[in-house]
Amino acid sequence: MKFIVSGGTGFIGRQLVDLLLAQGHYVGVYSRQPGKAARNAVATYLWDPLGVAPPDDSIHDMDAVLHLAGETVAQRWDPASKERIRASRVEGTRRLVDVISRVRHKPRVLVCASAIGFYGDRGNEILDETSAPGKGFLVDVCRAWESEADRAARVGVRVVKIRIGFVLGRNGGALAKLAPIFRLGVGGRLGSGKQWMPWVHAQDVARMFIFAAENEVSGVLNGVAPNPVTNREFTSALASAVHRPAIFPVPGFALRLAAGELGKHMLDSARVIPAAAQRAGFQFSYPDIQPALIEAAG
Ligand SMILES: NC(=O)c1ccc[n+]([C@@H]2O[C@H](COP(=O)([O-])OP(=O)(O)OC[C@H]3O[C@@H](n4cnc5c(N)ncnc54)[C@H](OP(=O)(O)O)[C@@H]3O)[C@@H](O)[C@H]2O)c1
Repeated sequence: MKFIVSGGTGFIGRQLVDLLLAQGHYVGVYSRQPGKAARNAVATYLWDPLGVAPPDDSIHDMDAVLHLAGETVAQRWDPASKERIRASRVEGTRRLVDVISRVRHKPRVLVCASAIGFYGDRGNEILDETSAPGKGFLVDVCRAWESEADRAARVGVRVVKIRIGFVLGRNGGALAKLAPIFRLGVGGRLGSGKQWMPWVHAQDVARMFIFAAENEVSGVLNGVAPNPVTNREFTSALASAVHRPAIFPVPGFALRLAAGELGKHMLDSARVIPAAAQRAGFQFSYPDIQPALIEAAG
């Protein structure tokens, strides 16, 4: 198949592009700095989701568009960074779908990233793809991002949105920051540690994007492993993966002090399960936290 991937230079996107190439697919990659993507992609296209529409010829004749681009959420939030987080996703997706709508040879499918941030802070409630959204900034971003993607369905394109959890993998994501702290033996749970953390291994989330493109699924898939853990369980699994104790809990007020508004969300609880992906027959390579962390951080 012929794929065009936005965010193909990022943490998840690099693994996704490598997997597509290994499976023998044609791959194009968007980047704000196309030279960065030339390393492993067949074709690279200049696209800044914050500024302009992607070029028509990047989408014309493609079988599938895999859309992951977006300003990182893991930064101190202020009005300007929140606007970049929102606009790079909501307006970026609008621009992408506008081009999908006008090219003559349209892709059959758009697989768009979203996030478990859709569900907000929900305690012990079990959340599947039919659960209602929560409340807050990230919830609003995810809802608007998904509804821009849904516009592609009006021109006959199959649309899948993958609500991604905390992605665990080598060379990026939250583990790149957490694992070194745990290796020093100074890691610990966040706040009470009772909050649910929907996690997923990077290889599984990359495989889920390809699964969504290749199979007749549509709508939302939760991109999380089938066995979510509490932050306390995650902490002890990570400590064990790096063979260190985890005895220094980080109090909630310290997180809020260090990371501001984002710090508050780091204590959110969302017990998300991948009901739709499992119903559709997706098989996880890493369903359990300990083997996932040994692979990603051990
Ligand atoms: N990693 C996670 O745990 C996680 C969890 C939930 C959801 N997600 C979602 O999955 C997607 C990919 O995540 P990731 O962890 O792979 O992200 P990442 O490593 O930060 O990569 C972001 C990608 O977006 C592109 N991009 C386009 N416009 C951007 C802008 N204004 N600012 C920053 N980057 C921009 C970048 O490409 P160029 O620099 O080449 O232009 C880069 O390839 C994101 O939309 C993210 O919200 C990730």
